[in-house]
Amino acid sequence: MTEDVLVVHGGTPLQGQIRVRGAKNLVSKAMVAALLGESPSRLFDVPRIRDVEVVSGLLELHGVKVTAGVEDGELVMDPTNVESASTDEINVHAGSSRIPILLCGPLLHRLGHAFIPDLGGCHIGPRPIDFHIGALREFGAVVDKTPEGMHLSAPNGLHGAKLELPYPSVGATEQVLLTAVRAEGVTELRNAAIEPEIIDLICILQKMGAIIKVHTDRVIEIQGVPRLYGYEHKPIPDRIEAASWAAAALATRGEIEVLGARQQDMMTFLNVYRSIGGELKITDDRVARTGVSGSEGGIKFWHPGGELKAVALETDVHPGFMTDWQQPLVVALTQARGISIMHETVYEQRLGYTEALNQMGATIQVYRDCLGGTPCRFGRRNFMHSAVIAGPSKLHAADLRIPDLRAGFAHLIAALAAEGTSRVYGVNLIKRGYEDFEAKLAALGAHVERL
Ligand code: EPU
Repeated sequence: MTEDVLVVHGGTPLQGQIRVRGAKNLVSKAMVAALLGESPSRLFDVPRIRDVEVVSGLLELHGVKVTAGVEDGELVMDPTNVESASTDEINVHAGSSRIPILLCGPLLHRLGHAFIPDLGGCHIGPRPIDFHIGALREFGAVVDKTPEGMHLSAPNGLHGAKLELPYPSVGATEQVLLTAVRAEGVTELRNAAIEPEIIDLICILQKMGAIIKVHTDRVIEIQGVPRLYGYEHKPIPDRIEAASWAAAALATRGEIEVLGARQQDMMTFLNVYRSIGGELKITDDRVARTGVSGSEGGIKFWHPGGELKAVALETDVHPGFMTDWQQPLVVALTQARGISIMHETVYEQRLGYTEALNQMGATIQVYRDCLGGTPCRFGRRNFMHSAVIAGPSKLHAADLRIPDLRAGFAHLIAALAAEGTSRVYGVNLIKRGYEDFEAKLAALGAHVERL
């Protein structure tokens, strides 16, 4: 498809201001939460991304009225008349996103049954859903896996449970939250994920009437309630998109102010950015400080000139270095002097994109061993999950095919940093998680055009 190719004339530092809106990985879950309410919910600052369209479609199929609100980015979801959808209708969304799995609890509460299509999402490892299914069964759900998808019912209702996740999975924690809030009795979840997006989802559920306690040591306790109501919420900003632009500033020796980015969600990233030699200025409290509306702040990121420094890093669950920050940052690390190490401990196959960087002149070697940090779940299991990056390398243009969302953005950054003209194929995949990325590139002075 010719329209899915971006021609990138690289070598120009990106300079200027762009804005990030609500986090993709919260907004989609907040939309699912709206299904649990007995009155309409309003979500603000919703980005125009493909994942939002997919969840809107799924909600609409189940009788939720989804409309645009008065404000730009406002979404109104009215779940007053939730109804069953046919398997065929739902299956239209098969393979488009991983969010449908989170509809299980809310649909079981609202309808007593649910059908979940085959999941999609990025191909970054096997991405099993065993924690989700295990938890749902503990709540009393009957789960029947068929070749067409997953049928669920709850003949005796859903009841609170004592659960412990084998790994602090973001999705499984959300599954438990979205199911436990209306299950009868108390649920205790151990080894829960505590990402800022999870805490924001808990805030939303509390606004809806839920009773949720977040204890120390990854323990979350949920007291089920008989009914929940609509919410009004402005989501946390997208810290993955913010970090992606920050990495782009570094890789292209530019300067990007990311309006809307917030320090407290990105502290681990900011420390790493500074260690590498990137500069940053935080103004996320500008409106609160100055009282001047319309003077929104954020975080400005720039390359101060000179050489960047190599680092050893590993990805981890919060408060560690996010797995989704890894790919864009590795592009910047190809420009750092010395040997950097990136140990990916969240997904087992998230380094495949480095091959394309090597074709562009980078020197990156991937290993099966757990390098540069603590041994992880993937050590000695044959997964290529550690990368050694030797730099600085001069990147040159290439024809690239985008493999998944974050790796895709990393490829784009590499093309922008490289000398010459690259063609980036499959670029529409980036729309799954980056709002208006082409307009933003233009605003930053990038020389790109559709083929
Ligand atoms: N896992 C299992 N079994 C399960 C669930 C997870 O083994 O039932 C494993 C996964 O295979 C993985 C690890 O646990 O190795 C962590 O997965 P997690 O469940 O935390 O990830 P997720 O909920 O599927 C979300 C984001 C990802 C982000 C991860 C980690 C959404 C829609 N996706 O995925 O975002 O990388 O958390 O923070 O929220 C992206 O935005 O590009 C993206 C991939």
